[in-house]
Amino acid sequence: MLRRPRRNRKSPIIRSMVAETNLSVKDMIFPIFLIEGNNKQVEVDSMPGIFRFSLDKLLPEIEACLKLGITTFAPFPAIDESKKDKFATESHNPDGLYIKAITAVKKEFPDICLVTDVAMDPYSSDGHDGIVENGEILNDETLEVLGKMALAQAQAGADIIGPSDMMDGRVGYLRNILDEHGYSGVSIMSYTAKYASAFYGPFRDALDSAPKAGDKKTYQMDPANQKEALIEADLDVEEGADFIMVKPALAYLDVIKLLNDHLNLPVAAYNVSGEYAMIKAAAQRGWLEGTGAMLEVLLSIKRAGAKLILTYFAKDFAMHQQV
Ligand code: PBG
Repeated sequence: MLRRPRRNRKSPIIRSMVAETNLSVKDMIFPIFLIEGNNKQVEVDSMPGIFRFSLDKLLPEIEACLKLGITTFAPFPAIDESKKDKFATESHNPDGLYIKAITAVKKEFPDICLVTDVAMDPYSSDGHDGIVENGEILNDETLEVLGKMALAQAQAGADIIGPSDMMDGRVGYLRNILDEHGYSGVSIMSYTAKYASAFYGPFRDALDSAPKAGDKKTYQMDPANQKEALIEADLDVEEGADFIMVKPALAYLDVIKLLNDHLNLPVAAYNVSGEYAMIKAAAQRGWLEGTGAMLEVLLSIKRAGAKLILTYFAKDFAMHQQV
């Protein structure tokens, strides 16, 4: 036998010499949940190991992550029901939880990178990403709210804004508003191909942000579609996005590959809450070896073509790398 592929698998050193894909904590963006109050660190029931932090607890948590090499964070706020309304007014309140937290974090850690979330759902009394009228999600009216939100986040020091709402035209609209106000240096990571997915359940538990009525299928994409992701991606490129994102990651590895093959912008993938929860739940029962499953899943996302991964595993991964 002339060709024996097993020779390239014969030892850990050889295997690492021929590894085509490598994971680094630098590829990872850590989503992190905020709550009002003081001295609070509340675990999300459906996401073991993931907490909602009040601002005073968030700062030491970020410091601990920095020591592990995590440099980029995607904060999401859990807003009290009493502060939610139809127009998500709290989203651009300079004294609101989210804007205050961005300001405080960037003041304490000027060198970290914050990817802030632009969407109405955490602040919407309807639990939707847009303004609801007679059961319909209004597109163009919603853009105005998103614009105010993005501007408030940029003013607070956001490095990258992440529109996760799936309204048409939002990337161009936000790019314009940011530029007009002197924030041409703030980047946009667009949630380009965001599917209407059952894997967002634990995230909606964490923020208590599930839709009060209906579903998100008139704005988030149909899991049946691949070409539609190219339409969205072409638009995002034209409208000025700096990064494009596929979400969720695991059931959409083909879409990650498609966008990476066809477009020149860096592709990010969001390894979402349900993807985290299913591994953690199986590991807790002893049905899976959690660390191995985590590493394999993260590798698969990178191998498919994602340059960056938003993942609740970022800290677990970083700790695993240190041992
Ligand atoms: C909504 C938003 C969602 C997530 C991030 N932003 C959920 C949704 O569309 O309802 C989900 C992230 C996750 O599940 O980890 N703007």
